[in-house]
Amino acid sequence: MHPMLNIAIRAARKAGNHIAKSLEKTDSIHVSSKGLNDLVTNIDKEAEAIIIETIKASYPDHCFAGEELGLAEGRDKECQWIIDPLDGTANFVRGLPHYAVSIALKMRGRMEVACVYDPMRNELFTATRGQGAQLNSQRIRASQPRDLTGTIIATGFPFKAKQHSESYINILGSVFADCADVRRAGSAALDLCYVAAGRVDGFFEFGLKPWDIAAGDLIAREAGAIVTDFSGNTNYLASGNIVCGNARVVKPLLSKIRAHGNEGMLK
Ligand code: IPD
Ligand code: CA
Ligand code: CA
Repeated sequence: MHPMLNIAIRAARKAGNHIAKSLEKTDSIHVSSKGLNDLVTNIDKEAEAIIIETIKASYPDHCFAGEELGLAEGRDKECQWIIDPLDGTANFVRGLPHYAVSIALKMRGRMEVACVYDPMRNELFTATRGQGAQLNSQRIRASQPRDLTGTIIATGFPFKAKQHSESYINILGSVFADCADVRRAGSAALDLCYVAAGRVDGFFEFGLKPWDIAAGDLIAREAGAIVTDFSGNTNYLASGNIVCGNARVVKPLLSKIRAHGNEGMLK
C-alpha cells in the first residue's frame, strides 16, 4: 500500500473513532453556526486536529487545507492534504447516522491518495492514483447504465444558496423524469464514494468546497467514473460544481443542468 494512504487511513480511523465515541456523551457536543444553514461542532474541530496531528507525525513538512482549521503552510509546497473532518455535520447533529471523514493528498497538483471513512458503518473507501478504488480493501467499480433509465441519482440541495432554488428544482425535475429515483443523503464525500461502489449511478451538486469532494473525486475516478464540472471540464475543485457517473449518465445530466441552470450556477 502507498505509505501516504496508510497514514491517511490511520488519521481517518482515529478521527472517525473520536466522532463515534462522542455519541456516548452527547451533552459534550456543542453546536454553533458558521453561517446561514451551516453548522459546526467542537467534534468537527477536534477530529480535524486529530487528523493533522496524525499526519504531521509522519510528514511534518507537508501543507494542510482543512475545513475548520484553514490553511497551514509547510516547507514542502508540493504536498497538500485536503481535509473534511466530518462531512455531513447536519446529519451528525441530528443523530442521522450518515457522515464521514474525508482526507485527500494532492501532490504536484494531482490527487495522489484518498480515503473516506464512515464511522457508523465502519466502511473505508480508499484510492491511490492509477491503482483503482476499494471499499474495505475490496475493489469497487462504478455502475455502467446505458442512459438515465432505471438509475438512482444522488444530489445535494442548494440549502446555502436558496436564490438558486427555482433553477435547481427545474434541473431536478428534469432528471427525475428520466431516472428511476433520486437520493439526498447529506454527505457529498459519501455520495461520490457511493457512485464509486455502484450504490448510486450518478451524482450532481453545485457550490461545494474542495474538502467536500477532493477524496471522493479520486475514489470515483479510480472506480471508473467520470467527474466533470458543469461545462464538462475538470475545474470542479475550484468551481464546486460537480457531476459524476459513467459517460452515459454524465452526458444527460450535463445537458439538463445546462438547459435549466441559471448563469450564476453554471460557472
Ligand atoms: C456538506 C455535505 C452536504 C452538502 C453540503 C456540504 P458539511 O458538508 O457534503 O452533502 O450538500 O453542501 O457543505 O458541511 O457537512 O461538511
Ligand atoms: Ca463537507
Ligand atoms: Ca465538514
